[in-house]
Amino acid sequence: MCGIVGILGAKPVAPDVLKALKRLEYRGYDSAGIATLEKGRLTRLRAEGKLKNLEAKLEATPLSGTIGIGHTRWATHGKPSETNAHPHASPRLAVVHNGIIENFRALREELIARGHQFATETDTEVAAFLVDDELAAGKSPVEAVGAALKRLRGAFALVYLFEGEENLLIGARQGAPLAVGYGDGEMYLGSDALALAPFTERIAYLEEGDWVVVTREGAVFRDAEDRVVKRRIIHSAAGGLLAEKGNYRHFMAKEIHEQPEVVGHTLAHYIDLSALRLRPFAWPVDPAGISRVSIIACGTAYMAGLIGKYWIERFARLPVEIDVASEYRYREPPVEARDLAIVISQSGETADTLASLRYAQAQGAKAIGIVNVPSSSIARLADAAAPTLAGPEIGVASTKAFTCQLAAIACLAIGLARARGAMSESEERALLGELVAAPGLLAQTLKLEPQIEHIAHRLARARDVLYLGRGPAYPLALEGALKLKELSYIHAEGYAAGELKHGPIALIDEDMPVVVIAPRDALLEKTVSNMQEVAARGGRIILIGEAHAAEEAALELDGFLPMPEVGANFAPIVYAATVQMLAYHTAVIMGKDADQPRNLAKSVTVE
Ligand code: F6R
Repeated sequence: MCGIVGILGAKPVAPDVLKALKRLEYRGYDSAGIATLEKGRLTRLRAEGKLKNLEAKLEATPLSGTIGIGHTRWATHGKPSETNAHPHASPRLAVVHNGIIENFRALREELIARGHQFATETDTEVAAFLVDDELAAGKSPVEAVGAALKRLRGAFALVYLFEGEENLLIGARQGAPLAVGYGDGEMYLGSDALALAPFTERIAYLEEGDWVVVTREGAVFRDAEDRVVKRRIIHSAAGGLLAEKGNYRHFMAKEIHEQPEVVGHTLAHYIDLSALRLRPFAWPVDPAGISRVSIIACGTAYMAGLIGKYWIERFARLPVEIDVASEYRYREPPVEARDLAIVISQSGETADTLASLRYAQAQGAKAIGIVNVPSSSIARLADAAAPTLAGPEIGVASTKAFTCQLAAIACLAIGLARARGAMSESEERALLGELVAAPGLLAQTLKLEPQIEHIAHRLARARDVLYLGRGPAYPLALEGALKLKELSYIHAEGYAAGELKHGPIALIDEDMPVVVIAPRDALLEKTVSNMQEVAARGGRIILIGEAHAAEEAALELDGFLPMPEVGANFAPIVYAATVQMLAYHTAVIMGKDADQPRNLAKSVTVE
């Protein structure tokens, strides 16, 4: 949610600022901007729309400054426009900001009363004027930022550049991530290590409340109480994780096709493949003493959690509650020390999920973080890390992170069952056998892409689409609908197939495609009955299931995606790619940007 970067370079920095912003564009893409010092004077270039618009401006008006900051925006306060684009400036400085300054209204009124004229609708300008006032009162930039930060409330990361200060950037972190990169005579600041990967692998992360003074000679970190603190420089692996599309048209397509490999990697992290046994897991609490599991996540990660609920309840016989993080954090649910919280997040930075994790921990529960970005806030804060090894996910719509989350939860569910004595060793082996077969079967489903593209032509003409499933296929129906909505902007709903007759059946007519996800399990017959109900009302059924399901239904189908034979448990992992590809191709056919759908951003670090 907004990407920020700062560079103290040995040569003109604009091309590298742009390069870093390209790697951050997944965080927001409604405007972008850069500020440098040209002969000591602050100079800004900003453009509405995607980064390529800023790139064109930079080509027309090259900047030569060797110090600069850049921003790619996902609008919170103020519509996407060049005026509202960052960096924002006051006479003495420019600033880029990710997050929300919650007390900006009060500060804005105070600053207006002091004579400041606001040029934008953003909350960011207050962060510029507060520091500017301190500078005008004679403070140094370091003193000025230190004083201003005490007045800001909310969740944000900031980077300041000062008029006339050729060797100084100041960054701050409160609730949104910020990293410092150490180069050779050059220094960097960025929202994540991936942005800085082309320049350096030596990274130090600001901790909550930290702020940092960066010069070409190094970085001095201070904590929230302004004490100078040391932050460890780590060797980031992000450089090896290339954010390239390869031969694919979109990152999303590449990421869908990477799934067999990355799900395999994730499973191998949890499973000793030669022995077909789970590797030991460092449970943050004794599994035998757990009375309840609470899963908390947002969006697609929440759908993964919903599927995980089925598995944990089925295998470990433990009650599972699940909540979207934005509700959980404010509902003040009772939490006990015997509860195990599981938070799921690709980015590890989602504001609501992070706050929920803190809430559960404050109530005395221990938490496992199923997270894809190992250096993220959630991964570091959780009592135990359960990594997904999806690699960087650049497409804004989550795909490979989702299936890797499923792989991790499935292993945790089996692990909990074993540790609680709810499952025998032979049952463990049987389930792990099913699980390790999933990546190969997933690879088979990818071969259906031509058929999926064909069906997508029909979906592209629909106004509404219904997705149905039962058991763990029900959350996958929700995920299929979410994917279609966010990518193609077609209205779609996911329903438990059994709920059909309690309302949504009223929607069905010959214009309504109904995607039925029907794996071979104990519920198949019931799902087939629901298909009959749809067909009886003229609904157009697209079936995702084994040949057996199509035979059982004996209906004229509008589309059939034959799935490989999968054991009853882990079909969602294998079937996921079909709903992802359906949404992807529908969007592409409709001319939508599959990697950067409108209004969305990856890594939602604001509430
Ligand atoms: C949908 C999607 C979002 C994310 C959600 C949570 O395709 O990508 O719904 O799943 O914003 O993000 P993370 O997993 O980073 O916490």
